[in-house]
Amino acid sequence: MAEHIYIFDTTLRDGEQSPGATMNIQEKIRVAKQLEAMGVDIIEAGFPISSEGDYESVRAIAKALERSVVAGLARANREDIDRAWDAIRPAKYPRIHTFIATSDIHLTHKLKMTREEVLRDIAEAVSYAKKMTDDVEFSAEDATRTELSFLCEVVRTALKAGATTINIPDTVGYTVPTEYAHILDTIQKEVEGIEKIVLSVHCHNDLGLATANSVMAIQHGARQVECTVNGIGERAGNTAMEEVVMALRTRADLFPYETGINTKMIYPTSRLVSQITGMKVQPNKAIVGANAFAHEAGIHQDGVLKEKLTYEIMTPESVGIPKSSLVMGKHSGRHAFRDRLKSLGFDLNTDQIQKAFELFKALADKKKTVYDEDIVAIVMHEVLRIPYRYRLNYLNVVSGTSAIPTAVVTMEIDGEPVRDVDFGDGPVDAALKTIKKMTHSKSKLLRFAVNAITGGTDAQGEVTVHVEEDGISVMGQGAHTDIIVASAKAYINALNKLEYQKAKRREEANQS
Ligand code: KIV
Ligand code: ZN
Repeated sequence: MAEHIYIFDTTLRDGEQSPGATMNIQEKIRVAKQLEAMGVDIIEAGFPISSEGDYESVRAIAKALERSVVAGLARANREDIDRAWDAIRPAKYPRIHTFIATSDIHLTHKLKMTREEVLRDIAEAVSYAKKMTDDVEFSAEDATRTELSFLCEVVRTALKAGATTINIPDTVGYTVPTEYAHILDTIQKEVEGIEKIVLSVHCHNDLGLATANSVMAIQHGARQVECTVNGIGERAGNTAMEEVVMALRTRADLFPYETGINTKMIYPTSRLVSQITGMKVQPNKAIVGANAFAHEAGIHQDGVLKEKLTYEIMTPESVGIPKSSLVMGKHSGRHAFRDRLKSLGFDLNTDQIQKAFELFKALADKKKTVYDEDIVAIVMHEVLRIPYRYRLNYLNVVSGTSAIPTAVVTMEIDGEPVRDVDFGDGPVDAALKTIKKMTHSKSKLLRFAVNAITGGTDAQGEVTVHVEEDGISVMGQGAHTDIIVASAKAYINALNKLEYQKAKRREEANQS
């Protein structure tokens, strides 16, 4: 029987450390639920001591999940561990993940500690965490640049103190597959009792080797792979979950291993994370990039038409990429729509399904063809959004070669209808300027990006905006067949998120 490889997802912790990838608490819960639904074994929900917000979101995720283990990160000291435990204790399956750096570079320049002191801290931290939960993971930060005999000593110490998972991270993405294999082989040869724990790997992609290193590690005894959706993470990112999972599945002839991941949920999850974080997936990204299954060269197209296997090593359907044919039309019923949502990886409640269905019908009236991508956009942008102060009711923009771009906007602000008009340098500028005036927003627009979700001139356009005010920075998304409307929706979505964050900040200030 195939051996199980534990998938440890750190999108919400290491992934969220990517510049600009911050998520609010609702977004984190949404991602966590999606990860649980797709079969992730362990979800690292955050680093509770790092901020009040992180603590709260880890706690909320711990309460919300039922099947996955929920891990909270903590440095190897009592204060961090107490805070992590406090956050994860409501979880059905809580895990404390404690770490300390072990390489001489880190010991000398960062920690200013001796090796003996580090070993003492590991023993103390792991046994302290063990008093709270049986499930304790220890990570030797910068393990791949740690002198190997000392790394073995570190692993021995963590094992003796009671760690149940021991992680050997390639923190700076420095190692290469053969060297990583040697490190793991040596640990398994030198550390007595190592078979009692789960050996884990955690790779960063600075040299583009994170997936190769993780897969090699599995062949050399690792049974837990730490990864993120779309490979987001510090600097060049972490191992991409979708790449490891699909490598194991596609090359099952080489790898007698299985993961619990429902691969059909890979693509919807990738879209969810990309839309929430505002981090676009590069078109040539393996598995989930827009071009990952596109065949451009005539010779390739000819081959694929004759037999898919000529140029396709896996099918787009196997990773949940919707077939690029018409899937639903205006005559489709509620039942078929609900099934379609399920197969796209969405687990919605009755009200959410109803809302999505109404929006789908409205879109089907306007658009000849409604693609799965359109449905995904409706759900992401319109159904799973956070509570709002502002709502767009009407937008009319006049522009052209001889007209000054002018926008007339009607909005609901705190339930009251408001209408205004303004000019701009272009139609989008006019619309956004008018909205800004109406909402009296002091925010700054830092980034504006447009993407066509589906092909053709009746495609849904997807807009992402990055907005900042008083140190709070949020992403807003909007989708519509009219790109100006999509822009207005994205901007209003961001302003709603800002309002939410500001209200939360005020609440925290009042409490303290
Ligand atoms: O990269 C790293 O070493 C980490 C540890 C905290 C596991 O993220
Ligand atoms: Zn990391």
